[in-house]
Amino acid sequence: MVADTDEVVRVEGVVKDFRPGFGLRRKRVLHGVTFSVHDGEIFGFVGPNGAGKTTTLKILMGLIRPTAGRASILGCDVRESEFRHQIGFLPENPYFYPYLTAREILDFYARLSGMPSALRRRRIPELLERVNLVHAADARLKTYSKGMLQRVGVAQALVHDPRVVFLDEPMSGLDPIGRKEIRDVILDLRAAGKTVLMNTHILHDVEMICDRVAIIVGGRIRHQGPVDAFLPEADVTTDVVLSQLPADAATRLEERFGLEMRGLGDRVELRIDDKHVGDLLGLALGAGARVVSVTPHRRSLEDLFLSTVRAPEVGPASGGGEEAA
Ligand SMILES: Nc1ncnc2c1ncn2[C@@H]1O[C@H](COP(=O)(O)OP(=O)(O)OP(=O)(O)O)[C@@H](O)[C@H]1O
Ligand SMILES: [Mg+2]
Repeated sequence: MVADTDEVVRVEGVVKDFRPGFGLRRKRVLHGVTFSVHDGEIFGFVGPNGAGKTTTLKILMGLIRPTAGRASILGCDVRESEFRHQIGFLPENPYFYPYLTAREILDFYARLSGMPSALRRRRIPELLERVNLVHAADARLKTYSKGMLQRVGVAQALVHDPRVVFLDEPMSGLDPIGRKEIRDVILDLRAAGKTVLMNTHILHDVEMICDRVAIIVGGRIRHQGPVDAFLPEADVTTDVVLSQLPADAATRLEERFGLEMRGLGDRVELRIDDKHVGDLLGLALGAGARVVSVTPHRRSLEDLFLSTVRAPEVGPASGGGEEAA
């Protein structure tokens, strides 16, 4: 068990090399990855395609071995097995036998985890309810849509009421309603005191539910910390849309505030530092413009993500663990 720390998952200096084929050079896909997930939090592990998220999760699940470094869950090295009944896992591309129904497949997984029948009879309807599949519980999975199958996958990961849940792209392929449903399931888990690590590149979902994130790019952690720390209040800009702004006034405003306006029919759109909004609006109204909308724009995780992915790789990351290679 975790002793004097609330770290539930710890990944320390993990390196992973793959040999793509016989005689081919080894390819390093994780370069000394270090991060930790605390008790009771929702942790977002985000990065572009091919960054190493699934590889890291496979190492945590004990499916593949790291080339170097250590990983532990609930204080146990991931090569051990006695803690495994306490973890749930949704793989990236789960496969379910198509001729079974959702109720049958959940019963199958509940049996696998050694759940007695009385408990299964209670737990499975509860889970079906939770992932909103009661109406389809007795239909074969081959008739399910992608979103429904994804929800079966999430229910499967939760069948034995695990303490720590690992989800590889839980929102993948879901429409906005499906994503909201999965977000609600994850928030319920946190409310019940569980710890969740999810791989994703849907940043909106991360902003909505995650407590902390790590951003991995090219097998290296580039940022790690509370989501709020990446969305500083001070860093606010405002989007302003004006109509009927005379062209000469537009040019003057662009020069004065060092901004660029984009035309949208008879409207112009601009982004301006928060502290100049009042001045800009005063001058624009004085020149005969009308205000269509004024929208504060917080710096989003997406902005950070894009700048991180595009930035060249340099030295050790802030707060992230580096560097083994
Ligand atoms: N078994 C393997 N053999 C060789 N290379 C592999 C193997 N598994 C993964 N890789 C490579 O490791 C890198 C990381 O892959 P990984 O699946 O961990 O990325 P990911 O962050 O999960 O991406 P995605 O968002 O697309 O799921 C990729 O370049 C991938 O090609
Ligand atoms: Mg992946």
